Amino acid sequence: MSFRKDFVWGAATAAYQVEGAAYEGGKGLSIWDTACENGHFVFNGHTAKVGCDHYHRFREDVALMKKMGLKAYRFSVSWPRLMPHGTGELNPEGVRFYNDLIDALLEAGIEPYMTLFHWDYPYELFLKGGWLNPESPKWFEAYAVNIAKLFSDRVKHFITVNEPQCFIGCGLYQAVHAPFLSCPPEEALLAWHNTLKANGLATRALRANAKGSVQVGLTVATDVLMPATEADKATIVKENFTLRGDNFFSNALFTDPAVLGKYPENLASAFRANFTYDEKDMEIIKCDPDFLGLNIYHGKYITSDGKGGIRDVVPDMNVPFTDMRWPVTPESLYYGPKTYWERYHLPVYITENGVAVSEWLSADKKLHDPARIEYIRSYLEQLRRAASEGVDVRGYFYWSLMDNFEWKEGFSKRFGLVYVDYNTQERTPKDSAAYYAGIIRENGENL
Ligand code: NOJ
Repeated sequence: MSFRKDFVWGAATAAYQVEGAAYEGGKGLSIWDTACENGHFVFNGHTAKVGCDHYHRFREDVALMKKMGLKAYRFSVSWPRLMPHGTGELNPEGVRFYNDLIDALLEAGIEPYMTLFHWDYPYELFLKGGWLNPESPKWFEAYAVNIAKLFSDRVKHFITVNEPQCFIGCGLYQAVHAPFLSCPPEEALLAWHNTLKANGLATRALRANAKGSVQVGLTVATDVLMPATEADKATIVKENFTLRGDNFFSNALFTDPAVLGKYPENLASAFRANFTYDEKDMEIIKCDPDFLGLNIYHGKYITSDGKGGIRDVVPDMNVPFTDMRWPVTPESLYYGPKTYWERYHLPVYITENGVAVSEWLSADKKLHDPARIEYIRSYLEQLRRAASEGVDVRGYFYWSLMDNFEWKEGFSKRFGLVYVDYNTQERTPKDSAAYYAGIIRENGENL
């Protein structure tokens, strides 16, 4: 078996990373706007004020997608663009922007996959405590009701949150993402718990307020462990969902409560936290997502330590590293979906996979990116292997459609299928864009 006939081939972006127009069109501030303004957190003081100017150039970008033959585009709504204060009134210009984008996509035959929250948290709500505020799940629920009412006549796939691992773990615990805080573990876990409640409420709100039937899922960052030896294969699912230490990236931490209705038993001890919660919350948190979105870029080979635990296997010296210093490990796109499937039996979308390469235009004004082509080919080969073993993989979204603002790395990392000149905003499809178009045409038969 190969990829399903209706396999969804797409590319992804997120609002703050591409839209620009940060102070235009009635938009409210987000915590990324204020973090960038500060000038100290992001590489070379870059800000995404203008970004890729997708807000003004989305029609040109949709035309590029169409040329590539994309079947779907995953993008996020900027919460403060739609609701400048986070709660309360809607911003009509924001509503118009997303309506226009959705209509342009549908006209081009491209299915919109909408993420509700991809990190650009409304600054006004942050000042009220953000995810630490007990009201925060309700704020997100009200936002989801608006989304459903406004867009679900045309958008049929929704992703509630993108990578809580990053916006809570990196944002509130490790201080490497906005709002760049290192809260004590009790507070970070409380924010995590509120995010899970928000996810549960939003999932129900989207379903209850949708016009027609919709699919609602969530997207997680993954920490894929892969077996180094034949013997390690037998325990790899269990190892992938074992919580070790104060690790917000641990695979069980979000999906176990959201899907199975329980936290890992060792949650409080692993985080050395005095963390308790109302058991009734689990009725909200467990929300039966229709699918799981997995963001997978790399994985880690592990082996048994002979004492009932595991140890990392240091990558071979020939293993290449991307511009993010992430190891190139194609098998992560096999073991990731496979282990999630075996634990939850939910359909899987790869909502992100891609590579940043240090690259620039050649004298012929083209961008030749053989490393990205080989990355895509070798990873997709492994995804196909998972599909052929019965894993219900529904789609793949390359990250990213175009080069964009890579958070604290600013514009220094290029992930795109399309090269962006940030001075002129000129777009140049890379060689990989043509390669990916060929894969889409053949439904991956030509890998
Ligand atoms: C995950 C995030 O969702 C996305 O915003 C980011 O740019 C990519 N990974 C690459 O780091």
